[in-house]
Amino acid sequence: MKLLVTGGAGFIGSAVVRLAMSRGHEVVNLDALTYAACLENVADVSDSPNYAFEKADIRDRAALDRVFETHKPDVVMHLAAESHVDRSIDGPGDFIETNITGTYNMLEAARSYWVQNGKPESFRFHHISTDEVYGSLPNDPEVMFTEETPYDPRSPYSASKASSDHLVRAWNETYGLPVVLTNCSNNYGPYHFPEKLIPVIILNALAGKELPIYGDGSNIRDWLYVEDHADALLLVMEKGELGRSYNIGGENERTNLELVQTLCGILDGLRPKAEGVYADQITFVTDRPGHDARYAIDPTRIRTELGWRPSVTVEEGLKQTVQWYLENEDWWRPLQERHGVGTRLGVKA
Ligand SMILES: NC(=O)c1ccc[n+]([C@@H]2O[C@H](COP(=O)([O-])OP(=O)(O)OC[C@H]3O[C@@H](n4cnc5c(N)ncnc54)[C@H](O)[C@@H]3O)[C@@H](O)[C@H]2O)c1
Repeated sequence: MKLLVTGGAGFIGSAVVRLAMSRGHEVVNLDALTYAACLENVADVSDSPNYAFEKADIRDRAALDRVFETHKPDVVMHLAAESHVDRSIDGPGDFIETNITGTYNMLEAARSYWVQNGKPESFRFHHISTDEVYGSLPNDPEVMFTEETPYDPRSPYSASKASSDHLVRAWNETYGLPVVLTNCSNNYGPYHFPEKLIPVIILNALAGKELPIYGDGSNIRDWLYVEDHADALLLVMEKGELGRSYNIGGENERTNLELVQTLCGILDGLRPKAEGVYADQITFVTDRPGHDARYAIDPTRIRTELGWRPSVTVEEGLKQTVQWYLENEDWWRPLQERHGVGTRLGVKA
């Protein structure tokens, strides 16, 4: 099958590209190469005759039409997005343009291509989204996000992703475009851009810097290893019921403080400090405005309907992740020089 993957030079998109190609699919990777992109993420597969790269911006409809016409994909997996909540607080405009207008352009380009080709039944537009569209949960293990949870986004990032989800559903209802949607919890793993919590903690720890924890560290996230997410996405793309959405989660709830303490413990084992322990570097900093208290996914639908489960526990996944960062300084070091990385963002509100 030929997949058009948008955002394939980013963290999750590149995991999808690598996994899809290892399973024999052809991939066209469409990416604008923003500050968050890194083509190194797909270096292992980019020489393959089954791989093509298109530098294109999803805000540019003409460029999208050209890519569809040139490559004639069987399915679309749409991941390209502005993805960092703190950046969305400082500069929401890019999130509106890429996540909303860009998704609108993708839907229209896909619809036009699908219609021109006689509406092939096997065509799919898979929209990859986040659990943040559901808002914030109370600290009650009985309450989780299901696919029926009403949308209640609270940051410019989650509001832009919620808007894009609504557009995708509308294109299905109104024009019959064959779509599937997924809403996933927080990902972690190799190639995670060094502005996000887990790489920031690992790299600051190694550099002897403070390990910043927003607020009191009690915010809860449900962590999923990125390669498990990529596996779930390929399954939904191939077997998901049209017009349906699937929540994807790791069933691994941790407070941010627990997560950071776990990372410190792993680092103490793999790269012990000369004196003291990494947890000594933990520092509590001003909270993010509107910081959602808890996210937790009920993955019953994807488990019962498609038989999917994560393959690694959070302990195993975090250990593999720390090991990967220890072995791949050549990857992360240059990224720390990119604009805004290493500075505190999103406190202006
Ligand atoms: N990271 C998470 O924990 C998480 C969880 C659930 C869902 N998601 C969703 O998964 C998708 C991928 O997330 P990620 O963490 O890999 O993001 P990322 O920021 O690492 O990568 C995004 C990619 O999209 C590209 N891109 C951005 N704007 C573009 C534009 N206008 N045109 C073309 N390409 C553009 C970037 O160059 C980059 O390669 C996003 O849609 C995000 O909302 C992420």
